[in-house]
Amino acid sequence: MDIREYLKKEKEKIDRYLEKYLPPEGAYPSIIHKAMRYSVFAGGKRLRPILLLTAYRAVGGKKEEDVMPFACSLELIHTYSLIHDDLPAIDNDDMRRGKPTSHKVFGEAIAILAGDALFSFAFELMLKTRVPPGVLRKAMEVLTRAIGTSGIIGGQVMDIEGEKLEPDPRLLRYIHSHKTGAFISAAVEIGGILGRGKKKEIEALRKGGGYMGMAFQIVDDILDVVGDEKKVGKKTQKDATSGKITYPAVYGLDGARRRAERYTHLAINSFERLGKKGKVLVEIAKFLFERDR
Ligand code: IPE
Ligand code: IPE
Ligand code: MG
Ligand code: MG
Ligand code: MG
Repeated sequence: MDIREYLKKEKEKIDRYLEKYLPPEGAYPSIIHKAMRYSVFAGGKRLRPILLLTAYRAVGGKKEEDVMPFACSLELIHTYSLIHDDLPAIDNDDMRRGKPTSHKVFGEAIAILAGDALFSFAFELMLKTRVPPGVLRKAMEVLTRAIGTSGIIGGQVMDIEGEKLEPDPRLLRYIHSHKTGAFISAAVEIGGILGRGKKKEIEALRKGGGYMGMAFQIVDDILDVVGDEKKVGKKTQKDATSGKITYPAVYGLDGARRRAERYTHLAINSFERLGKKGKVLVEIAKFLFERDR
């Protein structure tokens, strides 16, 4: 299997559904729908929906169409988190997904509201998932834990607070596992839940997703140091000047690479517990370690 081809096909499919689900630009008030679509369609790897769908199939899920609303809702939540992450009050970034950030184009007020709107629309969409109510509830429980103060927001808060603190390995692990690891783990676990996987399978997915999420954020840190701005689509060399607590800052570039590799192996070991059904997730974990964007 060619993993690049697989990811490309999945991304195209997700983009078609996002196009279909999102309110049209012309819907009143047009400016907010324009801003929502601007950031969603600026680019993006669509990693989190791809992980949900891949995990869903790994446990034997067959009706992809039924879970597509949930998969796409993850991309909307992710995009909201990026719009807000880039705001002047947070990371103050001008470029995202190869384009000017939302607040640069629409102004801060609309950028904040576009993030809010994507977040709330995500839940409207998620409720259209065609699975039994108890299954949806379980999946939403996992999701909501991963995006609030026990997930993304907790991590983002300490990422910002950390700018004033001494780099420390424990804080570093907290930041990365919360701001990024929790949501990626949730995406994989939710795929397992919606696909009605066995308890053991879902546990392997949750664990593997968490390790993969750690590796993913470490590679993001590494790309901030050595990446090509054109490829990553955002300004590089920013973390050091902002005093961010990152893996390269705490362990050096080689130390960061070794740790990303270690987490990747841990992710692979977890996914291998699914037998040959876990193969695609294993390939994605390997690919993400080697990514340059
Ligand atoms: C960027 O996420 C923010 C992090 C959590 C590191 P991605 O690297 O998945 O960004 P897109 O969606 O491809 O733009
Ligand atoms: C962001 O981490 C994680 C989010 C929850 C948005 P970063 O601040 O490192 O992400 P980039 O580098 O701006 O994409
Ligand atoms: Mg940030
Ligand atoms: Mg940022
Ligand atoms: Mg970063």
